[in-house]
Amino acid sequence: MRLSCFFMPVLKEVPAGAEIVSHQLMLRTGMIRQSAAGIYSWLPLGLRVMQKIEAIIRQEQNRAGAIELLMPTLQQADIWRESGRYEDYGQEMLRITDRNERDLLYGPTNEELITQIFRDCVKSYKDCPRILYHIQWKFRDEIRPRFGVMRGREFLMKDAYSFDLDEQAARKSYQKMFVSYLRTFERLGLKAIPMKAETGPIGGDLSHEFIILADTGESAVYCDKALIDKKAPPADLDYESDLSAVMQEWTSHYAATEDMHDENRFQEEVSQADQVSARGIEVGHIFYFGEKYSKPMKCEVQGADGQLITLHGGSYGIGVSRLLGAIIEASHDEDGIIWPKSVAPFDVGLINLKPGNEETDHVSTKFYSALHEAGLDCLLDDTKERPGGKFKTMDLIGLPTQVIIGPKGLKNGIVEIKDRKTGERQELEIGQALAALTGMT
Ligand SMILES: Nc1ncnc2c1ncn2[C@@H]1O[C@H](COP(=O)(O)OP(=O)(O)O)[C@@H](O)[C@H]1O
Ligand SMILES: [Mg+2]
Repeated sequence: MRLSCFFMPVLKEVPAGAEIVSHQLMLRTGMIRQSAAGIYSWLPLGLRVMQKIEAIIRQEQNRAGAIELLMPTLQQADIWRESGRYEDYGQEMLRITDRNERDLLYGPTNEELITQIFRDCVKSYKDCPRILYHIQWKFRDEIRPRFGVMRGREFLMKDAYSFDLDEQAARKSYQKMFVSYLRTFERLGLKAIPMKAETGPIGGDLSHEFIILADTGESAVYCDKALIDKKAPPADLDYESDLSAVMQEWTSHYAATEDMHDENRFQEEVSQADQVSARGIEVGHIFYFGEKYSKPMKCEVQGADGQLITLHGGSYGIGVSRLLGAIIEASHDEDGIIWPKSVAPFDVGLINLKPGNEETDHVSTKFYSALHEAGLDCLLDDTKERPGGKFKTMDLIGLPTQVIIGPKGLKNGIVEIKDRKTGERQELEIGQALAALTGMT
């Protein structure tokens, strides 16, 4: 992408009203624009990051055996009356009436709809277990939408739902999602710690929140330091194997959000030196809720002996749009965002210091094509802005690698490569630079 043709409305000033750094940086870099309280448009730079995050989530869901589908944002109120949640959900639910006076709602979550689909389509135990997921917009009419995409009213969620024949099998599905979340967040460049959590209005008896430590987090969290440097299981992990050992490894250390925190246990189980009391951002939340929806909604299948079995369920959410804010909270400096490589909107930022100069134009174009050829996404700053402004913008938007192409260096056949994260600069000959960037020798 050439910056001169792109749509990236960068703001010079820190926008008023944006309290936390991720919100400020998302507005300043032109990733999002607010359209109403807690409702945002995703401009091209923000959308690119979101799509990269979605792709990683999708890969890891599929790897764990979950199957993607897509449910609508609007749902019939009747299925929520069946589960008994229509009244319970209260004012957070956006209720809509269509021209035929039918009650609809903008889905805040999808347990009812997926249970209806599963109930209507699956009749035999042979078609269980299944984990189904989608990535879809949700609406919750939060009293206090704030912190930009962190607590929006409209937000993108990956939500998965499991259907199993009994509790033991359902716990196995829970474990698969637990492990897949460890891998997902690690690939997103985050240290997300699973913490025992309250089950809240969704109900059930087994639940973990995946929490990123950050000063701007909405809740206090307490955990054992040992969890912070733990590595997620490898990509070739067999999800059909017994995952109890992995679960055990991750859940045997103390970790709890404030609602579940037990100060006495914390003091007893964790040595003073290893006690981490911090603030956290919830990026994922998983629940096992048994027959909570399948019983009232009669989600049953016929067992081998002909008897009806009420299915056991779980649900597994990731806040996709919230993750953009969370990643920025975890990875920025005073100059701007520092994107982890896996989700950066572009892999490389090329800075042509003097557009219109034959030599810099030629070399910039050469890099641009060669990097594309090698499968790297580049943003080429070919605008007339002064060098100082270009450097600032490039640092602000946080692409992992910058290539600085100027007439002075080119006199000696040299360009400069800067690593955004470490700030390290290298002067390399054009051929060497291209080889270094594309991994060719
Ligand atoms: N208002 C919101 N704005 C952005 N993301 C949200 C919002 N509410 C929930 N999420 C994300 O969706 C995930 C699943 O939601 P859930 O656990 O049902 O929500 P909550 O914890 O608010 O009850 C959360 O872990 C969070 O990452
Ligand atoms: Mg939650």
